[in-house]
Amino acid sequence: MAPRIKLSASLICANLLNLEKDLSTLRQGGFDYIHFDMMDGHFVPRIGLGTFFLRQIASGQHMPVDVHLMVTDPVRYVDEIADAGGSIVTFHYETGQDIYRTIHCIRNRDMKAGIALRPFTPLSHIEPFIDYLDIILLMAYSPGTTGQSPLRDFEGRVAVLAELLGQRGQEHIDIAVDGGVSEESIPKLAKKGANFFVFGTSGLFMPDRNLDEQIDRIHEIIKRL
Ligand code: DX5
Ligand code: ZN
Repeated sequence: MAPRIKLSASLICANLLNLEKDLSTLRQGGFDYIHFDMMDGHFVPRIGLGTFFLRQIASGQHMPVDVHLMVTDPVRYVDEIADAGGSIVTFHYETGQDIYRTIHCIRNRDMKAGIALRPFTPLSHIEPFIDYLDIILLMAYSPGTTGQSPLRDFEGRVAVLAELLGQRGQEHIDIAVDGGVSEESIPKLAKKGANFFVFGTSGLFMPDRNLDEQIDRIHEIIKRL
């Protein structure tokens, strides 16, 4: 049974000066998670959001927070994220750190654990860890940026991951897609097996669109899947 569609709004793409209102709009609009990008300026060039901010967001009883760690030493942040109220922690395979230990530390703090992959990291690299994961996040382009074009045949990569999970009887693991998620790409990605959509500037926080209307458009598309 494929997991249900989950919607996660990428905070770093929101208008932070309008955040309280937008978070309520997202919650009332049926979004499931707030996507929280933590970046250390080392694993990716950009500096992201900090746990002082996560604590405020999580305490606001908005939506559970899905933390995307784009940092060189992910395990270092696990307790801080748990203490600040994070619900899911996804970290990058490419850090080269102890993957199993990091997953164990996340789950030990009663958070869901995920591995994130840059666009060209072979899916085979995470096979040894699949049985310990709740979510796998595929980046459509290099992490740490926004509004880029997804890599060619990103849908194909989603399909290969879905096939891999199916072969192992792990269809319950969420397949998250992050970067370039738009009205056009949702149906194609869902058809290939993605069920957890991270929305940023391509499909949700769009300067020429009203947030309420955009949320309605997303639900219309999801209904037709
Ligand atoms: C990438 C981040 C966000 C967002 C990007 O890790 O999580 O920047 O998804 O979305 P787009 O590509 O739509 O701006
Ligand atoms: Zn992200």
